[in-house]
Amino acid sequence: MRVTSTTTATIPFNRPFASGREYDYIKQAIERGHVSGDGPFTRLCQQMIEALLGVSRVLLTTSCTDALELSALLLDIRPGDEVIVPSFTFVSTVNAYVLRGAKPVFIDIRPDTLNLDESLLEGLIGLRTKAIVPVHYAGVGCEMDTILTTAQRHGIAVVEDNAHGLFGKYRGKNLGTFGSLATLSFHETKNISCGEGGALLINDHRHAERAEILREKGTNRSRFFRGQVDKYTWVDVGSSFLPSDILAAFLYAQLEEHDRIQSARRRIWTNYFLHLGGWALKTGARLPYVPPHCDQSFHMFYLMMPTVEARDALIAHLKTRGIMSVFHYLPLHLSEMGRRCGGENAFCPVTEDASECLLRLPFFNQLAEDDQAAIIESIQEFRG
Ligand SMILES: Cc1ncc(COP(=O)(O)O)c(C=O)c1O
Repeated sequence: MRVTSTTTATIPFNRPFASGREYDYIKQAIERGHVSGDGPFTRLCQQMIEALLGVSRVLLTTSCTDALELSALLLDIRPGDEVIVPSFTFVSTVNAYVLRGAKPVFIDIRPDTLNLDESLLEGLIGLRTKAIVPVHYAGVGCEMDTILTTAQRHGIAVVEDNAHGLFGKYRGKNLGTFGSLATLSFHETKNISCGEGGALLINDHRHAERAEILREKGTNRSRFFRGQVDKYTWVDVGSSFLPSDILAAFLYAQLEEHDRIQSARRRIWTNYFLHLGGWALKTGARLPYVPPHCDQSFHMFYLMMPTVEARDALIAHLKTRGIMSVFHYLPLHLSEMGRRCGGENAFCPVTEDASECLLRLPFFNQLAEDDQAAIIESIQEFRG
């Protein structure tokens, strides 16, 4: 992996990363003459993720958003169904089910990990609850033991939104291997990326064949290519969720580098954590918490400031030094669309606080040591 120093005065929040072999693999895809979906690079990526995570079937998609939408189709989510989702998440976690007519039931988060508060689940489950969608925030595992036992007790599906958590673990088991379905994101801001991309992880093999069909416009095209049927036709609902093999070629170049990418990110995360502890104590800020039974994915580094004023002042302070830090999710239950879905009845005070007080520091694979030192020094100057 090539790690280069920043050449401009500004340290961005994120900078797209290239491992170096992307061009070569894209050229190979073009020369081979297969640039549409489900080509050789798509198969290589899927097989590699299956092997690395121990998932029985992985399907690349054009985004995590699409993988979530595919999960909603696979679970036959219908108008009147309810889906329990954190309010502290990206809109796609919720939108995927709302698109099928479901009502989102917003659940609050734990103040320590910012993951959904599993102790609130029982109070939110009703006769119409069809699924729970835990989001492993910052790649730190949700309390999957309780979530799975609760879901099993009520016969409810679990779909892990693992957009942040590739290579994270909960009690030694890979995130994305707990729910009957799980999703990944390969968006530009993620540890491993192809610009825009994602994957559906299928842990319950009963979804495997239908997932192939829904991803391929509702046709049995994949069976046709395997010689299992003599022509392909429309057999179910579906859409076009598969990425071009050009994107898969780009992604494969990054997946091959996963060890080096993860160790670079571990170093960056640890550096922030070790150098900001003393400052946090003095200013009343809080650093990320990773429970001892979780291995995180080193997706992001955030600071939880004591007040919204302190958070906004720190963002402004860093900006004057050419450093871009950013806030994160706005509570979905209070958003315009969230309210229309009944969100005003949700009680999510921890989400509302976290949303006001959290900021994310620059974090990307090739963040140079001297740039990170400048970020840390600038934060240490800030007294609130
Ligand atoms: C928790 C979560 N889920 C889903 C998504 C959507 O991912 P994508 O951009 O790959 O569709 C994001 C985006 O960052 C996210 O943070």
